[in-house]
Amino acid sequence: MDTTAKPTQTIIVIFGAGGDLAWRKLLPAIYNLYLDKWLPENFMVVGMDIKNITNIQFQEHVHAGIDKFSRSGKAKKKDWVAFEQCLVYKKADFKAASTYIYITKLINQTEKKWGGVSNRIFYMAVSPSFIETIVTNIGSVGLAKDKTLSRIVAEKPFGQDLESARHLNKILCHTFDESQIYRIDHFLGKETVQNILAFRFANALFEPIWNRNYIDHIQITVAEQLGVENRGGYFDHAGALRDMIQNHLLQLLCLIAMEPPVSFDADEIRNRKTDVLHAIREIEQQEVFKYAIRGQYDKGWIEGKKVKSYRDEPGVDSNSKTETFAAMKLFIDNWRWQGVPFYVRSGKRMNESRSYITIRFKPVPHQSFPAEATGNWQPNSITLNIQPRMTITLSFQAKRPGLQMLLNPVDMLFDYDESYKTGTPEAYETLLLDVMQGDTTLFMRADQVEAAWDVIMPVLKAWEADTPVHFPNYASGTPGPEGSDLF
Ligand code: BG6
Repeated sequence: MDTTAKPTQTIIVIFGAGGDLAWRKLLPAIYNLYLDKWLPENFMVVGMDIKNITNIQFQEHVHAGIDKFSRSGKAKKKDWVAFEQCLVYKKADFKAASTYIYITKLINQTEKKWGGVSNRIFYMAVSPSFIETIVTNIGSVGLAKDKTLSRIVAEKPFGQDLESARHLNKILCHTFDESQIYRIDHFLGKETVQNILAFRFANALFEPIWNRNYIDHIQITVAEQLGVENRGGYFDHAGALRDMIQNHLLQLLCLIAMEPPVSFDADEIRNRKTDVLHAIREIEQQEVFKYAIRGQYDKGWIEGKKVKSYRDEPGVDSNSKTETFAAMKLFIDNWRWQGVPFYVRSGKRMNESRSYITIRFKPVPHQSFPAEATGNWQPNSITLNIQPRMTITLSFQAKRPGLQMLLNPVDMLFDYDESYKTGTPEAYETLLLDVMQGDTTLFMRADQVEAAWDVIMPVLKAWEADTPVHFPNYASGTPGPEGSDLF
């Protein structure tokens, strides 16, 4: 598959085109692909939603979203006038058979006009409760049949637990072949996350020390200053463990811990990642307290502004027991990682907005320098900053300038913004282009999603069985609940 070439003619049907995801992320991403000349000449987006709006109103709505959220800034008139021709809107009831008959007709007419078949991409930007009906209906009208042209995109949350994820996979795999299914984890589309593969496998330098002999522990952190914003209704039924750890953080862990792939074939990469998930040591439910910590934010201060407690957020139960912070200590039982703890943690309303991975190396086997030289000594570490800064730092000891031998930790830095002046594509741009090009490497396969649920199920069950009495247990604007650092 040539992923450097433009995709062939494409129709994207977005279910839930009036929603937030389409407005903030998907349509601005498609627009940027258009600006960067990645879209084929023949291209159409069919927005479908329950809202009763006209084509023009839909186009205006998309325009406003692009002006607000696109990384390339406000749309220029000339570009917009050409782009808006690709946007079609249809008020639709996702449960009605007529909706799918309409889609079939529209695809047939358009392909006739274009003089040939096109990629048909069905993007489910909808609440999970619609997935079954949309997938089944697409199947009934025969739109899933063509294994190379028809593709379906599913957003997270992918299930609520292992059982519901299995059920969803069953529904999807009944109608579509696994090769047609694109389960999105948008973290995998981030430039700095894809770079983990390049850093590890395009350099001979790091691989020999990337194991239990040299690495003491690894920390993976996704800290957000944001609260739940307007997603209280969803988040209160999910919590940080489901919302962040089950997907984004475990995917980062897979990229850090996987074995070198033999090739860049999608299934080869996904097999190596799934191997990691299968090797994660199972946590006994009665021992969860040793391996996992949860928290919920209270009111506090973020960057000088007073913010509410989680329980006062719109859509959240005033007695909510849902965690907004979750951390886990994991071990990977294989030759490479035996005995090396992996700490994953994520929280909302924390003291900083920063996602990063720290690889902490073991201390030198023998300190030959006198104690006075090494007062400030620290073990080596590599930090991969995912966002907002996009950097990699290698920390090591250096001699401080002066007449004495005094050591000090210093950093060697690679900074994306300094090394490359070109803009960085948004994760959704990368992922949408991959869907159009039929490249599944950065998407989650059914077995991967289920293996990730398997890892967190004992914690979910233990937390459900044991109601937290101490919530809220961290003030907004702090590094999370007490004890999470010790752990
Ligand atoms: C989403 C979660 O998947 O990722 C959100 O549902 C979270 O709760 C978001 O805020 C973080 O993604 P990003 O790209 O903004 O760091």
